[in-house]
Amino acid sequence: MVSTFRESQATQPSPVRSQIQALQPTLVEWRRWLHQRPELGFQEHLTSEFVARKLQEWGIEHQTGVAQTGIVATIKGAKPGPILAIRADMDALPILEENQVPYRSLHDGKMHACGHDGHTAIALGTAYYLAHHRDDFAGTVKLLFQPAEEGPGGAKPMIEAGVLENPTVDAIVGLHLWNNLPIGTVGVRSGPLMAATECFRCQIHGKGGHGAMPHQTIDSILVASQVVQALQTIVARNVNPVDAAVVTVGTLHAGTALNVIADSASMSGTVRYFNPELGEHIPQRIQDIIAGVCQGHGATYDLDYWRLYPPVINDPAIADLVRSVATNVIETPAGVVPECQTMGGEDMSFFLQEVPGCYFFLGTANLSQNLAYPHHHPRFDFDESALQTGVEIFVRFVEKYCA
Ligand code: NI
Repeated sequence: MVSTFRESQATQPSPVRSQIQALQPTLVEWRRWLHQRPELGFQEHLTSEFVARKLQEWGIEHQTGVAQTGIVATIKGAKPGPILAIRADMDALPILEENQVPYRSLHDGKMHACGHDGHTAIALGTAYYLAHHRDDFAGTVKLLFQPAEEGPGGAKPMIEAGVLENPTVDAIVGLHLWNNLPIGTVGVRSGPLMAATECFRCQIHGKGGHGAMPHQTIDSILVASQVVQALQTIVARNVNPVDAAVVTVGTLHAGTALNVIADSASMSGTVRYFNPELGEHIPQRIQDIIAGVCQGHGATYDLDYWRLYPPVINDPAIADLVRSVATNVIETPAGVVPECQTMGGEDMSFFLQEVPGCYFFLGTANLSQNLAYPHHHPRFDFDESALQTGVEIFVRFVEKYCA
């Protein structure tokens, strides 16, 4: 009898899942409302009002106007316990949406092309569920609705506004919907998940002149093109091959006429890496190479180098917990992709520098529905069935961590 009882219990759908499944149409509705109203970093006014209205409706304590347009919602469990933060970014991109869907962007030239509309909907769904199940967890969950992830970055100003204090956060989790992984998968990794994101801009000053009299000039285009080529030797020859790194020159502008040697050339680019030591090494090599090439040609230069976001580095213990929760939710161990890593960057890294935590990817690509365009593409869209999975992973993580 006992074994029969256990078997029948095991085959029952869990009440957590069935309740979250019932939320799915609402999650889709919220996501689409947000998708139609994309707002750029620190301008998320409609988004923020939408979130605040819902929190108000459900009686969830919250603070608005955090780091301009951010919101912190606080949900206390039935008993005292750990303090967990869940982070969701809310901003969109300056992209003209090319999707012809009923929920297409109403804001021309702006688009949720990275899935942050989904992140906001998932965090709202999580807030709704937790507020109605306070007996199922101890401690406090703080939901951080963050502005401006796409730049200039809202995580740092939120930390400076004190979101990790009063009460002090013990751990943080967050997710990114991910079209690089198929629906029904989760990418979790201990240690570095996403790369440091740094930028540079360089102006090379030569000496302009007649295109037919190069001996009277210092050709800034020639110098710049040698710089571009030489910069590629940094990753090929100065970085240990077992460390991943990228040096990309993304812009190069020079010249005004086909028979004029350009006086100056400007370029800009981005640098990505995981190993913090490269944060000193790569910028130094960039400077040395530019200086050396310019000197060889009698040119001069101005170089600006700045750091945007540090690498996203997950705490192994929290990542283990996310992995075990995700395995339960996905129900196929193969669906949890262990060594998922990208050279993309994220300002979730600032939170992870302060508090142990885990950022993870939730697979959203669905080729059969033509939902597999890359992030930041004008036709980006994702399989919305991942929304309920995201909520379930967060809810089950809360129930485990805040037990
Ligand atoms: Ni994103």
